[in-house]
Amino acid sequence: WVSAADGRIKGWDWQANNDHGFAELMTRNGWVDIDDIGAQGQVDSHDSKTRVRIVIASEEQNEFFFPGFIDTHIHAPQYPNVGLFGSSTLLDWLETYTFPVESRFGSPPDPKTGHQTQTDPKDAPLLAQQIYDQVISRTLSHGTTCASYYATNHVPATNALSSLCHTRGQRAFIGRACMDNPKFCVDYYHDFSAEDSIVATRQTIEYIHTLDPEGNLVKPIVTPRFAPSCTRLALQNLGELAASYSPPLHVQTHISENVNELALVKELFPEADSYAAVYDKYKLLTPRTILAHAVHLSADERALIRAREAKISHCPASNSALGSGICPVRTLLDEGITVGLGTDVSGGYSPSILEAARQACLASRLLGQSAAWQRDHSQSVDGKGSDGREKLSVPESLYLATRGGAAVVDMANDLGGFDKGMLWDVQLIRLGGVKLGKKSPLDFVPGDGNADLVKTGPVGNVDLFGTESWEEKIQKWVWSGDDRNVKALWVGGRLVHSRV
Ligand code: GUN
Ligand code: FE
Repeated sequence: WVSAADGRIKGWDWQANNDHGFAELMTRNGWVDIDDIGAQGQVDSHDSKTRVRIVIASEEQNEFFFPGFIDTHIHAPQYPNVGLFGSSTLLDWLETYTFPVESRFGSPPDPKTGHQTQTDPKDAPLLAQQIYDQVISRTLSHGTTCASYYATNHVPATNALSSLCHTRGQRAFIGRACMDNPKFCVDYYHDFSAEDSIVATRQTIEYIHTLDPEGNLVKPIVTPRFAPSCTRLALQNLGELAASYSPPLHVQTHISENVNELALVKELFPEADSYAAVYDKYKLLTPRTILAHAVHLSADERALIRAREAKISHCPASNSALGSGICPVRTLLDEGITVGLGTDVSGGYSPSILEAARQACLASRLLGQSAAWQRDHSQSVDGKGSDGREKLSVPESLYLATRGGAAVVDMANDLGGFDKGMLWDVQLIRLGGVKLGKKSPLDFVPGDGNADLVKTGPVGNVDLFGTESWEEKIQKWVWSGDDRNVKALWVGGRLVHSRV
């Protein structure tokens, strides 16, 4: 059912095996019984905008295919710092933990010319090659088939990341982080000038376009790190650079993550009405723009982002870890803004989008408890504040992790589901044991002597009595699963990760 030529889904062999069926996890209107779907053969009539679909893959009913996860915001060079943030918040976290590690991915520009002269990945430090290879292994093992990566500002290392993604078969957007503003950047890690930012960015774009001319797997993404790290000239030139390509290039940056950052943007760009307005002025809010965090946006900023059709990467693990705040995802969705999930490694402490999905659920539950939300949503039936609508369901969080992310990276027709013609970017998920009394390699009960499997096999998903619905199995996967549940992973039909 998957074409070897282009790795896309040709169709489904429905009649062949009744044990292979679809389960549709609806994100807004509740759940659909899988037997209904199978019996009525509604495979092509579903509304792909609101549903997540699984394909049951085993007779034991403990394996299923699921669309690959899309990480819409991750910093590859920060991977060594995963779990290291102490009690810092954004701006001191950048100085204490982040810039020191990122600066080791290359040398500063030549102080005479201002330009980086080397572009070959072979000129990247060995450390960069090794860490980037690890990031790819780790994200693949967690089911990430597509990632929008920030690299550092070093051209050889950024090109090395592109080359590694291409070789390993991970779909990726790769961006060289631009940071030329001396008012913000530290002296040991910055672009020499706005011109250097553009020249070096162009070098990475050209490298990627040579590596993957059709952009089948790896694409460049223009990456002003965030407004405070860039001069006006750099922002302007980057906006123009993205627009100068046909089709225009993707753009990624951060927005409205932390209150001290908001104050800094006001101080550095006093002429702008808002943080979003800074990006808009320089044509950086486009339908191909990914804005990470969006925790503290005003209603006007949300309206502007909606009007420009820019997309948002929700990074809940990072927002909690750095104490940035809670992104009002329900409000964004209600207003028609496209949202996906990001790990934001290493502001986020985990490279797993499954963790991001569960943190999205948890953060949304806490949001209803916050004083500000209670004040703004006090019109509930019982008059006691929040009506619970802010809570994201498990299927909704999975929707954000797949179809939402696909829309964020502007690939909604290609990724995120099992529609005919979509790319086979898919994970095979294996749950824990099956029905008691049946013997199979995966049939174990904790304490039955199969210690090896208990130790190394899929966790937290033992359907002890074989009575769980798919809805319940999926809930257990999201709340307690991890990379051990990812048995195999394909990108464009190519197997890129597997575990026995
Ligand atoms: N804002 C500017 N740079 C960064 C970064 O590396 N991580 C996060 N979370 N926010 C940023
Ligand atoms: Fe980030």
